Amino acid sequence: MRVLITREIPQAGINILHQYRGIEIDYRQGKPLTPAALAKAIKGVDAVVPVIPDQITKEIIKEAGRSLKLIATYSVGFDHIDTEWATKKGIYVANTPGDLTESVAEHAFSLMMALARKISEADRFCREGNYKYWDPLGFIGPKMMGKTLGIIGFGRIGQHFAKMAKYGLDMEILYTDPASHPEAEMLLNAKKASLDELLGNSDVVSLHCNLCDNTRHLIGENEFQKMKPLAFLINTARGPVVNEAALATALENGIIAGAALDVFEKEPVIKKELLALQNVILTPHIASATWEARIQMARMTAENIVDVLIGQKPPRYLVNKELQSKECISSLA
Ligand code: DGY
Repeated sequence: MRVLITREIPQAGINILHQYRGIEIDYRQGKPLTPAALAKAIKGVDAVVPVIPDQITKEIIKEAGRSLKLIATYSVGFDHIDTEWATKKGIYVANTPGDLTESVAEHAFSLMMALARKISEADRFCREGNYKYWDPLGFIGPKMMGKTLGIIGFGRIGQHFAKMAKYGLDMEILYTDPASHPEAEMLLNAKKASLDELLGNSDVVSLHCNLCDNTRHLIGENEFQKMKPLAFLINTARGPVVNEAALATALENGIIAGAALDVFEKEPVIKKELLALQNVILTPHIASATWEARIQMARMTAENIVDVLIGQKPPRYLVNKELQSKECISSLA
């Protein structure tokens, strides 16, 4: 059985797969595959392990042919996969949920503190040889203790960030989410709010929602107008949740005070307007980049593959739950 892995991942996952003689790995370890190279490499495989930038479209799935049983993404997000089409064709889509919760939340927390304390700007200042004397008014920012954190998308990651902010900095927590979370509300004294209430009352707004039709450009010009002028925006979720052009305008005109982005609308392209601004921190989609998370993601990916190819059962971290009770039936008919 053939498995295509499109990028190098931690060895822990490869070691699991090597325990099974029947699994033959086509392990690509260089630069990302172009769509054409991916279309070629995926032909005839039983399972594919893509990463976030690999677009697993309907066309790519068709290129795989009838053998494809599983798309086991090395990520928790799966918006790069045409899951609807995969489901229609009886192909399992699996991901790596849960393992990166703390890591992504820690990154969001770091970005919040870096924004408040102007860490990136101060670092650039030192490197550029500008530190000539101590300045009583230099790099002053807000203290975060007791401020209000607004979390959009109160799932595992959002709640973990809220927990760190509550217990570390005694921050007030507001959240928006389609679901209510009474337990977290009780534990963190968090309050569910409308989007407008959250935007108007938060000192920091942090995005932790999925990308879907409802969240695409959720934060744009109107939303920035509703935020406090000294507020910060943090995005470690998905780039297209924010209208980047509107964000650049808001930052340039002081509508909000700053932003930190780990994800971008058209990754890996970063708008030149954003690159030119001092009050935005940019990181290259690294929120889950801890050894612990990435190694565990590799293990979970391998477990998904073993479940399907060796165990002949649905993968344990199944995304398209509609296929839970179905036999694996890859069919392009
Ligand atoms: C994910 O897993 O969805 C992150 O964005 C990358 O690790």
